[in-house]
Amino acid sequence: MHFSRRMDSFGDEVFAALNEKRLALEARGRVLYNLSIGTPDFPPSLAVRTALAEAAMAPENWKYALRDTPELLRAVCRYYDRRFGVRITPDMVCSCYGSQEGIGHLGLVLCDAGDTVLLPNPCYPVFMAGALMAQATPWFYPMTAETGFLPRVADIPPEVADRARYMLVSLPSNPTGSVGTPENYREIIAFARAHDLLIVHDNAYSDILYDGLEGGSFLAQPGAAEVGVEFFSLSKSFNLTGARISFLIGRPDVVAAFRKLRSQIDFGMFLPIQQAAIAALDTPREEVLAQCRRYEERRNALCDGLTAIGWPVPRNRGSMFVWAALPGGRRDSMAFCLELMERAGVICTPGASFGPLGEGYVRFALVLPPEKIALAVEAIRQSGLLTR
Ligand SMILES: Cc1ncc(COP(=O)(O)O)c(C=O)c1O
Repeated sequence: MHFSRRMDSFGDEVFAALNEKRLALEARGRVLYNLSIGTPDFPPSLAVRTALAEAAMAPENWKYALRDTPELLRAVCRYYDRRFGVRITPDMVCSCYGSQEGIGHLGLVLCDAGDTVLLPNPCYPVFMAGALMAQATPWFYPMTAETGFLPRVADIPPEVADRARYMLVSLPSNPTGSVGTPENYREIIAFARAHDLLIVHDNAYSDILYDGLEGGSFLAQPGAAEVGVEFFSLSKSFNLTGARISFLIGRPDVVAAFRKLRSQIDFGMFLPIQQAAIAALDTPREEVLAQCRRYEERRNALCDGLTAIGWPVPRNRGSMFVWAALPGGRRDSMAFCLELMERAGVICTPGASFGPLGEGYVRFALVLPPEKIALAVEAIRQSGLLTR
């Protein structure tokens, strides 16, 4: 059997060893605290579930949708205005089956084989997969402790920036939990202008910021609308995670090209899911803020708990992840994850799976309530891992 050379560009499943170990421990009846996968444990609201169920009962809603309904597009425009103070029109909106799928395919719209794209390191894996599917060449800009885990465009060589087609920026960040500042965005926008480069902002965590910080849209920054597009996800703000609906928003020329690509292979988003999305966009703001506070309690329980038992982990300021430097001078994140699971029953993700600059770290997803997180911290303490 012949497979395309493209397939060789994708790495092997790094999680296979972790999964195998998890299954073996589960089979032995071991208590496990799974903080590895960033899928929210909160449900979508009753209004969302009702909208989906009612729409699913109408037989006409089972036809090919063929397009985003005008009602859905208007709901997104209203939301962007109300929530972010950003005026957009329906031609600036296109749904996709999650930002994951949208980012995975956007490279096909923007790049030819051999083109350069700028990606963060550490990198949420689909950023890289999207570039590789388009046979583009990633150029990684660092997001390390030295820069507060923020992009520093001044360090990107001008000749690289000149030939890049787009730069992917995602703040609050998965995996590092860092949050963008207006100054940082200003620099990125000026850089995009200077090098005639598109900024693709992945805004998956616009509603998960801590310590009183307010999330926003990249498109609200002065000048951003001319140089950027944004992926806006319903997965984390409204827990529509498994329903797979998010949006590409911004420059009409980019959105039109994205829609054109999709129209070659796609007959449109299932209409009941479009109805559920409309209901989600009308969620009272207090509910979203209350959920964010629950993530914050988890963040506090994990960061403060680990710090108290001798593993110093500073509080991150956003996203549903905690990015922790390995304790005791260790460097091998995969080996540490296997050891942590074996000895404490705590499952997290090796930093190396997000790229070379992720090595030396692990990522915890805040997907258990604070009481369970406290038990996980206690299990780590009792394992003796921090004292050897
Ligand atoms: C940075 C980032 N982008 C995109 C996604 C996927 O979002 P969606 O569910 O909209 O595909 C995730 C999910 O964890 C994420 O962390």
